[in-house]
Amino acid sequence: MMQTSIKVKLVTRELQTLTSGQPVSDGNGVKMTRIIGTPELNMLDPFLLLDAFETDQAQDYIGGFPDHPHRGFETVTYLLAGRMRHKDNAGHEGVIEPGGVQWMTAGKGIIHSEMPEQENGLLQGFQLWINLPASEKMQAPAYQEFPAHKIVVEHLEAGAEVRVIAGTTNNGTTGPVINPYVHPIYMDVFLPKGQQFEQAVGAEDNVFIFVINGELSVGDSMRKIGHHQMGVLRKGDQVVVTANEETRFLLAAAHPLNEPVARGGPFVMNTKAEILQAFEDFKQNKF
Ligand code: CO
Repeated sequence: MMQTSIKVKLVTRELQTLTSGQPVSDGNGVKMTRIIGTPELNMLDPFLLLDAFETDQAQDYIGGFPDHPHRGFETVTYLLAGRMRHKDNAGHEGVIEPGGVQWMTAGKGIIHSEMPEQENGLLQGFQLWINLPASEKMQAPAYQEFPAHKIVVEHLEAGAEVRVIAGTTNNGTTGPVINPYVHPIYMDVFLPKGQQFEQAVGAEDNVFIFVINGELSVGDSMRKIGHHQMGVLRKGDQVVVTANEETRFLLAAAHPLNEPVARGGPFVMNTKAEILQAFEDFKQNKF
């Protein structure tokens, strides 16, 4: 027998496209930047939407998001500053505080409100929508909620830190969120100037980076993602980024579902008929 030793070279992901999103007003007049879910970037399977909000002007957020439905996907709210109260039609209620995450599986449907629990000061955070596979869209609604102290922080060289919401770092730190459908990675990474960060990802995953503050160089080509920009990465096995200055960023990755997507406002299903059914069920108070 011949012994073969195969050493596979990891493919480092390079920057594919950059976007800065577009300003939107949603809910009751909340001003945000929509980064995924725009004409420029409709979706990045299974990521359906990414909204970033960051304002200390109360009139930009005070209206909040009064009662509205969701069906067919998950909403992930991650707050960096400020407080948001959520309340649903099944009696579930709570407050998301700075550093906390609410990972909500809307499944077959909920009606909820998301309202700022403050009348002044900074409100900063993100809402990410992650699609569910056809087989899971009509499951019972569920929540995975973690305050800041339940989000594992991995401490790296020179003061670098990784807050792991979902997925496992190269050093084996695993975040608390469970999603067996698209196996997401969702990490909040802080790098001092000059520090490098490496993260293995699935070769077929869709991967994006959003720079909260600072500037990163990506891969071997060292193309840059600047302040408040999102970079979609090319295919590959690992993400390697270097901070050109002190930088904080979100890294997200997930398996694409590769299923047809039908969208109708707060409902995301596979077919137009299922969207019409969602509107009908909502109207008939079946949520
Ligand atoms: Co909502």
